[in-house]
Amino acid sequence: MNLPVHPIHDPVATPLAGADLAPSEIRELEEEIALLKRREDAVILAHNYQVPEVQAVADFVGDSLQLSIQGQQAPRSTIVFCGVHFMAESAKVLSPGKRVLLPNLSAGCSLADSITAESLEDWKARYPDHAVVTYVNSSAEVKALSDICCTSANAASVVRSLPQEKILFTPDKNLGAWVAKKVPEKEVVVYDGCCPVHDVLRASSVDRVKHDRPGAVVIAHPECRQDVVAMADEVCSTTAMLSAVQHFPRARTFIVATEHGIVHQLRQRYPDREFVVADGCIGCRMHCPYMKMIDLVMVRDALLRGKHEVVVPADVAAGARRALERMIAVPRDA
Ligand code: 13P
Ligand code: SF4
Repeated sequence: MNLPVHPIHDPVATPLAGADLAPSEIRELEEEIALLKRREDAVILAHNYQVPEVQAVADFVGDSLQLSIQGQQAPRSTIVFCGVHFMAESAKVLSPGKRVLLPNLSAGCSLADSITAESLEDWKARYPDHAVVTYVNSSAEVKALSDICCTSANAASVVRSLPQEKILFTPDKNLGAWVAKKVPEKEVVVYDGCCPVHDVLRASSVDRVKHDRPGAVVIAHPECRQDVVAMADEVCSTTAMLSAVQHFPRARTFIVATEHGIVHQLRQRYPDREFVVADGCIGCRMHCPYMKMIDLVMVRDALLRGKHEVVVPADVAAGARRALERMIAVPRDA
């Protein structure tokens, strides 16, 4: 077998997965990955936004919350996390005894980068009476400074579950605003970070797409702006989008306001329905470059060479684990 080996994982130079692989090479890589997975006692987790080839070799495909829990529960000593850095870091924090590999260390997240431990300390000093709720799209250091974490699947339940009336929600301003509406009994102060992939979408674009498809159902991720969320028939996490389709048995067309990678799972599950990305085209604007940085060669190399092990300092991990475990104890919304 003579398959290409990626030299250095440069975020700009890294090709989209499968873009430079022939179908026979993909098959060879799939076989090699299956063998190595057994040899390394590994489970492969892939986020819903990963490229189809990577989703195909994963044992589990899901949203942030599901994958963190599946990594913890899988009776395997190695987790290969095909997602972005904060997700692999959460898996490590929740499974300290396991080896966690992120096939491409450059796979970051702009939203997670929008808040640092120092900026959170500043906000906490301004709002000393507020309980800090932090979206999992954040570093382990930021989680460690928070009272509890949340994901898009459980954010409102997490806020509702807290005894405090005053909440500081970080870092996503759109998710925070959505939660504040859903839990009006709490006073929610929202940090000012956002995901550029979701924040770029405007209601006028969704309107245009909807105009051409009368009767289409709009499903939005809560990282979208409030005007987009307001016109959605359902607002939910990426995995909840997969079951949301069943809530509309008569609808043929769904307009999906999130990163376009989710369309692969949706089409696989519902081949008789039409799925359109809310910006009107697949991969134009609602494209997360970080989520497309892992390909099959990198998954193979992760297993073959232990690339790249995610390590979290023990004191930071302990604080982040406390915030994540508190979150996991709260039932999810949808
Ligand atoms: P989910 O937890 O809904 O999968 O979302 C993660 C994410 O990064 C959305 O941009
Ligand atoms: Fe981060 Fe946005 Fe990409 Fe999700 S879509 S990983 S929030 S940059």
